[in-house]
Amino acid sequence: MNKLICALILWGMTGLALAAGGHGPALLEANVNIGNKTSLQRGARLFVNYCLSCHSAQFMRYQRMATDLGLDDSVVKDNLMFTTDKIGDTMKVAMRPADAEKWFGVAPPDLSVIARARGADWLYSFLNGFYLDDTRPTGVNNLYFPDTAMPHVLSELQGYQQLKDHGEEAGHASHAAPLELAQAGKMDEAEYRQATRDLVAFLVYVGEPAKLVRYRVGFWVIAFLFVLFVATYLMKREYWKDVH
Ligand code: HEC
Repeated sequence: MNKLICALILWGMTGLALAAGGHGPALLEANVNIGNKTSLQRGARLFVNYCLSCHSAQFMRYQRMATDLGLDDSVVKDNLMFTTDKIGDTMKVAMRPADAEKWFGVAPPDLSVIARARGADWLYSFLNGFYLDDTRPTGVNNLYFPDTAMPHVLSELQGYQQLKDHGEEAGHASHAAPLELAQAGKMDEAEYRQATRDLVAFLVYVGEPAKLVRYRVGFWVIAFLFVLFVATYLMKREYWKDVH
């Protein structure tokens, strides 16, 4: 009986999830390739230049990044480190979280594991989803994160987009490509898409080492418990052997 109830609840939730997924604009496909080191290197450069002022990546060490991305420590030091001069440091944010919260209303979250929380396609869509909106304090809104507090920090590269259908609510504009360029930036559309793809690839990579660390710790915890179990069992046998 209990099983039946569980099954019914699960079935109901799947239906709800599907219904929820049906709303809002479809995600763009990120198509990242984290095996491509030059893409990751470009992504790292964008990240430290445009994101690290507000967001940290506290599980990522510069040195680790240098090794994984095939960069010399000195290259990383000279080009990618702005918030510290120690190569062993993690990617800390330049701003104090309390200040950030005062300025934006919400503290910008750490981005170490954002790729796993949101998925690569969502991140890519988000970075391509900013459009002009005078009703927002930042002057922009986002198709995939309505009323976000984050400004369009890549506007100098992308320029500004606007909704194709003026006056239409973002949530209803679910047809393909609801945005169009209103004001050009330094990059054309293809270049900007590639830049955001590189950035998302970097964020996906940043999410992986953190996972590996957790798995490694988890492995040793289980190994420790196993050894402890064997020792306890042998001791029990030793203590009880003369009792019978
Ligand atoms: C000027 C500060 C600032 C900069 C620079 C900035 N962000 Fe943000 N970001 C924010 C704030 C504030 C939020 C919280 C938005 C909210 O919750 O409404 C945010 C939210 C986000 C989120 C959503 C997190 C979630 O809730 O799931 C992502 C993803 C993100 N930022 C990525 C980036 C990337 C990538 C860059 C660099 C290109 C960047 N941000 C640069 C301020 C910033």
